[in-house]
Amino acid sequence: MHMHKYEKIWLTSGIVALILFLLILGFGAFYLGTHPQSHGVRIDPENIEAEEAFRQENLGLTKVDDDRYIVNVVASSFNYDLGIDEDGTPIDQIRIPKGATVLFQATSTDVVHGLNVAGTNVNMMVEPGYISSIEVEMNSAGEYTLVCNEYCGVGHHMMYATVEVYE
Ligand code: CUA
Repeated sequence: MHMHKYEKIWLTSGIVALILFLLILGFGAFYLGTHPQSHGVRIDPENIEAEEAFRQENLGLTKVDDDRYIVNVVASSFNYDLGIDEDGTPIDQIRIPKGATVLFQATSTDVVHGLNVAGTNVNMMVEPGYISSIEVEMNSAGEYTLVCNEYCGVGHHMMYATVEVYE
């Protein structure tokens, strides 16, 4: 079968690009261990309280040690539950000292949501039935928006909170 020279060039570059793509993907998945933030940790979305981290009193920011914090978040349409303050008002802002190591743990009670602290590496998909977690060092002071970046319904754009990293 006769193949035109340009056809061979395009075919070869297509196959090379495919192999390169699969190699990069395989390197990330198997060597670097890149995987979804849920880490395969399951939770019953209808009974999240069974998990200590997601009991009402444990939601939001908790200091566990010097410069170590945990933030537990329950995402649902269209709100991030970060617990309540002394007056019973829902918390929509958390303050973390600069340089602290923070473990974000989140789950959803209904549909897939996102959890992104815009401008940082905190960027997770939050799925019902799974616990998503990521640990980061907050090294840049500033006010960040914790925002849902997975379209979850009509109130998607109202799903946000504030994370302040102070000096
Ligand atoms: Cu929750 Cu979009």
